Amino acid sequence: MRIGVDYYPEHWDKSLWEQDADLMAKTGVRLVRMAEFAWSRMEPKDGVFDFGWLDEVIRLFADRGISVVLGTPTACPPLWFYEKYPDAVMVDRDGQRIRTGIRGHRCINHPEFRRYARRIVEHMARHYAGNKAVAAWQIDNELEAYHCFCDRCADSFRGWLKEKYSTVEALNRAYGNVVWSGEYSSWNQVQPPFGHYPDAWMNPALMLDYNRFASENVIRFSSWQASLIRRQCPGVPVTTNTWFCEHMPDFYQEFKDLDFVAYDNYPPTRLPEDPEACVSHAFHLDLMRGVKRAPFWIMEQLSGGPGCWMPMCRMPSPGMIRGYALQAFAHGADTVLFFRWRTASIGAEMHWHGLLDHSNVPGRRFTEFANLCTTAKSLAFLQGSEIKASVAILFSFDNEYAFKIQPQTEGYYYFEQLQRVHRACMELGLNVDVVSEKEDFSGYRVVIAPEMYVTDPAVSGRLHTFARQGGTVILTARSGVKDIHNNAVMSPLPGVYRDMAGASVAEYNPIGRDQIPLIGADGQAYRGTQWCDILEPEGAETLVRYDGDYYRGSAAVTRNRFDRGLVYYIGTVGDEALYRRILMDAAGDAGLEVYPDLPPLVEVTTRTTADKVCCFVFNHSPEPRSVTIRGETLSLEPFEMKIITRNP
Ligand code: GLA
Ligand code: ZN
Repeated sequence: MRIGVDYYPEHWDKSLWEQDADLMAKTGVRLVRMAEFAWSRMEPKDGVFDFGWLDEVIRLFADRGISVVLGTPTACPPLWFYEKYPDAVMVDRDGQRIRTGIRGHRCINHPEFRRYARRIVEHMARHYAGNKAVAAWQIDNELEAYHCFCDRCADSFRGWLKEKYSTVEALNRAYGNVVWSGEYSSWNQVQPPFGHYPDAWMNPALMLDYNRFASENVIRFSSWQASLIRRQCPGVPVTTNTWFCEHMPDFYQEFKDLDFVAYDNYPPTRLPEDPEACVSHAFHLDLMRGVKRAPFWIMEQLSGGPGCWMPMCRMPSPGMIRGYALQAFAHGADTVLFFRWRTASIGAEMHWHGLLDHSNVPGRRFTEFANLCTTAKSLAFLQGSEIKASVAILFSFDNEYAFKIQPQTEGYYYFEQLQRVHRACMELGLNVDVVSEKEDFSGYRVVIAPEMYVTDPAVSGRLHTFARQGGTVILTARSGVKDIHNNAVMSPLPGVYRDMAGASVAEYNPIGRDQIPLIGADGQAYRGTQWCDILEPEGAETLVRYDGDYYRGSAAVTRNRFDRGLVYYIGTVGDEALYRRILMDAAGDAGLEVYPDLPPLVEVTTRTTADKVCCFVFNHSPEPRSVTIRGETLSLEPFEMKIITRNP
């Protein structure tokens, strides 16, 4: 298990480089990421390249046994480039060119930008080909599915649509453009969703396609860079560092062309008021592992208090630096790099804290980091280990986009719905993979398919087969609602899932932030919020009913035997206890081992090697906790992780 740091030698006086390399080596740092924003130093003038300074730093690291990750600097073209090509700057929804002097503001479809990007990437990759210190490449930085509204990008969108629909008539049909006289009679009339109208005024079918286009567009850009790098510098793995931003590219497609997944992980330093929200980054980690179903890297990990995009936040409390990194290992990371070695003393990010403060005196956080480096070394035996999960949660980018386009009710957010079921799995110590709905999920025992909103017939078909063959499926409200174009399906909900669920939705009620009491068949009380599907069982048994409002007594949660399998349908957004109960039952049906007595905010995950099962027990809470696992009692300090190993 490797620990690394993100480093910006171009920000510091040369006299610090050697000191830094010495301290890194002494501390146990094994990897350093550099150069992802340093275009103006690597190509100070058009066509004039200078890698001398970078060679020198890389040599300092290599001499001390430290490898490097090199970032292509395409998020930050130098200002001399924009001076020549002012129209290579992105255009916002209102048609205004955004400003230079920030980062990530280039239009990735601009041919001159592509030409210059190609040149710097090829120069860099050629220059470092064969350099044994280079362990990996990072493409750009935190690529998003950019929404650039320049003419070129609008044309590119039209081209994408032409390929998909061939004729405007087919496009009109798919989008239902008859509404508000939106029918196209020529391709020129097709526009991306411009302007500062609320998204709600736009055609949801157009919006979904636009999101798909934006995702494919940036993925083409990253695949293109990967191929440039591989041609010049073969044999070195290529990735990009991703994160959960407003416009996420489809990670499953994005990383198909890349060698491993890398993710930027910043768990909150201020614990959320709602203690359950503490565990949400466990969900993020499981999602990242599920992208390639393989070990992944954290390319940037919390090192100090955040604070440049907002006023300064709390510093990580004692235990967080170490605990959150070990938690990443527990969820399948095998390399964690900390953002950043030093806190910047210049530029916009000077209040986003690194491991070393402005004082340049290693302090509490640094000591904890050094201690982590020692622990990581002792975990070498985990390299190549697997996380075996019998439970999967399905994730869909179509749904991610579609729910953002049309929020269903106050407080209802797709990610959060997934997190609710994920949290219940965590509370029971169940390993869980978050995987693409497009993946083959036949090897799992329980498949949780929340909010299967936009219907891909191939996916619903596979879910049917999975259940018929004996799997347990958990479905929730807002499933089977839309067709693949994001138009509403005209049949009783949950549409294509009705037969599996053995129930249909007689009526629904989006109750927003209101709450509704629920009552289990055994008398147990729960609470629902946000959404109520008033269910009519058609063969399914009723597990939980509404206990209030005009539908008191109607079914809220059902379970149906479907051929050899079982299908749960959760028609409301429940409290923690409800999901816990359903997951307990589903795990019981499937014969899975659970840890029902974990104290709140203690997480248990397992990684399996050829001859060991390693159980990671992590205390998420700011309080000490005591926990008994298979007869062994452990005491955990706040944010402490303990690892127990046993034979398989
Ligand atoms: C992101 C970026 C970094 C830096 C950090 C902190 O993760 O990738 O370059 O900006 O945020 O702000
Ligand atoms: Zn553009």
